[in-house]
Amino acid sequence: MNDLAWLKNAWYVAMLSADLEAGKIYKRTILNEGMVIYRTDHGHLVALEDKCPHRYAPLSMGKLCGDNRIACAYHGLQFDATGACVYNPHGNGRIPPAAKVKSYLVEEKYGMIWVWMGDADNVTETPTIDFLEPGTGYKLNKPAYLHMATPWQLIIDNLVDLSHVSFLHDGLLGGADMIGTRNQLVQSGNTITVSRTMPNVRPPEYSDLIFHADGRPVDKQHVVKWIAPSIILLDINVTSPGASRDEGTGVHAAHLITPETEATSFYHFAAARWGLIERSPQEEEEIEARLAAARRKAFAEQDEPMMRAQYEVIKRYGGEFKPAMLDIDVGVVRWRRILADLVAKELA
Ligand code: FES
Ligand SMILES: [Fe+2]
Repeated sequence: MNDLAWLKNAWYVAMLSADLEAGKIYKRTILNEGMVIYRTDHGHLVALEDKCPHRYAPLSMGKLCGDNRIACAYHGLQFDATGACVYNPHGNGRIPPAAKVKSYLVEEKYGMIWVWMGDADNVTETPTIDFLEPGTGYKLNKPAYLHMATPWQLIIDNLVDLSHVSFLHDGLLGGADMIGTRNQLVQSGNTITVSRTMPNVRPPEYSDLIFHADGRPVDKQHVVKWIAPSIILLDINVTSPGASRDEGTGVHAAHLITPETEATSFYHFAAARWGLIERSPQEEEEIEARLAAARRKAFAEQDEPMMRAQYEVIKRYGGEFKPAMLDIDVGVVRWRRILADLVAKELA
């Protein structure tokens, strides 16, 4: 692709908290940088470059050895949580100044492990996602993730422009009577919001399930917020035709995209439902299982194969990607322009 840039000064989700067992070493690549992530027995989180400064053995092959330390598997140097070498078992035990590993700022929030990939001097607060804050009363799904053989930009394109739901997810997330709805774009700083309002449409399966599950027409709205560089917050609102939003129901979803390499990405996902329709616990459980199946189908069987195939075509043409633009691409054009400006500033 001719637009491979990514922003370094940002927090990216490295993994789910639930997958991070204390005392174990996890290997991750973010923005092409290999790192090890671990949680010590005392609960301290550590993220270090996956490269021993001695002979470049990956530290991910090493082991944890107390005091937040990791020991290289090759010749036994030990590093603390800041990446400083604190033990050399050889000779007089002298530690050369170059024996230092890069350490990353790492935070745990919303059941996910976030890593700051930029300079420590530029660090910002970790992103705030209101619906994931404690005490909202929303019904939260357990966060999940997919590994994608797709450049991260194609995933953002996919989410910023949801006109594809009537084609790729026909019947599941969209339908024929939603085609032609305009994307309304609003920009505020480095954030864009793209919304589509679809009055009196036949509800696709997902919207029907979160509402009355009776197939009757609904007013439906998608509000997609892109927060630079790679956070997408998507609201799906469903009401009876003509009713106000508060009388309906909806889903808040966070799609958190982490570039792994130029060609691959991690796609983390968390969602919460509000305005739940009154149902028996058993009915609700059934609905929840069907919603989970619908999401899985949409992501894993429809979006993921499409984006992977799209990338295969792009590669076949030597990485050239010069899309013919349509009306639906207002958001796609804008987020890419904002990102290009941010990257240019970062590199300046
Ligand atoms: S390569 Fe790590 S101690 Fe030698
Ligand atoms: Fe999709």
